[in-house]
Amino acid sequence: MLDQLKDQPADKILSLMAAFRADPRPEKIDLGVGVYKDAEGRTPVMRAVREAEKRIWDGETTKTYTALAGDPAFADALVPLILGPSVPRAQVAAVATPGGTGAVRQGFELIRMMSPGATVWVPEPTWPNHLSILRHLGMTVRGYRYFDEATLAVDADGMLADLGGVQAGDAVLLHGCCHNPTGADPDPATWSKVADLLRSRGALPFIDLAYLGFGDSLELDAAATRMIAGSGECLIAASCSKNFGIYRERTGLLMAVAGDEATAKVAQGNLAHLNRQNFSFPPDHGARIVSTILGDEGLRADWEAELEEIRTGMLTLREGLAAELRRLTNSDRFDFLTRHKGMFSRLGASPEQVEAMRRDHGIYMVGDSRINVAGLNARTMPILAQAMVAAGL
Ligand code: LMR
Repeated sequence: MLDQLKDQPADKILSLMAAFRADPRPEKIDLGVGVYKDAEGRTPVMRAVREAEKRIWDGETTKTYTALAGDPAFADALVPLILGPSVPRAQVAAVATPGGTGAVRQGFELIRMMSPGATVWVPEPTWPNHLSILRHLGMTVRGYRYFDEATLAVDADGMLADLGGVQAGDAVLLHGCCHNPTGADPDPATWSKVADLLRSRGALPFIDLAYLGFGDSLELDAAATRMIAGSGECLIAASCSKNFGIYRERTGLLMAVAGDEATAKVAQGNLAHLNRQNFSFPPDHGARIVSTILGDEGLRADWEAELEEIRTGMLTLREGLAAELRRLTNSDRFDFLTRHKGMFSRLGASPEQVEAMRRDHGIYMVGDSRINVAGLNARTMPILAQAMVAAGL
């Protein structure tokens, strides 16, 4: 029977990781997968994570199962971090999931349970795995305009015009902050118009929040999510991979914000049921790290400080790259780099230009010209700038 299987299409981001590893050139530069790297190219274990792990190791007396929704302390710590005072806690159903991707997958499945014929609207472009999971689930997908290739900013008019076509019972995927792959986020006025539009059409917002704290601050990056959650029902898939740097621990949370407590209770039961069907109990170690950090004043302050160092470090790289390109080209056409948020920027290069930068300079970025800003450092930043100019950008 196994001979009935066909090769699956390669994941663009993961195959880029493999191609980078296989390149023997020592001067190669990895701007591919969305993993934070410091100036030495390392992805460090954050200080507070290390300390929390020590405390867990000292204090943990059992490895028995937690609950289908995960240890309640995890949701109780993460929900307020994300939603602040925007929604009463009792109106939020939440379950731990294997990473943000697990939350995304379960969110799509919940949409299918609630609204079997739903169309899921996704921004064009979006994280390729969103599309791949939706395809795998056999769900109907439609793109909405999001990114203006000319200005390399959000196409707010196009977005609102396309979302005007959503139907009651559809779901609309939104990136809560630090849009992946473009780095372009809507401004607050556009966010409010999107929220009003979706409410008026009876569509469900589904927010993917994978980079909280990488854009402007923990608070500001949560603002759009809070505004939407405060305005009615929505789903939120949160990842702790990036902001806690615990990628391999697979730590995510799926939240369903309901209009009242009774509905939230039923949603909670359904989310736990979905966990049981897909993998039973969610991973616990990363979730325990997060609740340990957020529940301890000192660890939390240290985590926030280190996250801020990471955020401002990426900002400095963005500004440095834009300044270098201003100097090299005598123009401000690359200043969009400083307006993009978080880890990624789409440069607006053609596939041929992306290929030329890889071939001639050993610079690896995703084929749509998405760079991971954190892959740069003070030494490699001018190399990228020169390669961009040499490639004719
Ligand atoms: C990315 O977009 O590079 C990250 O979210 C990692 C991944 O799994 O694709």
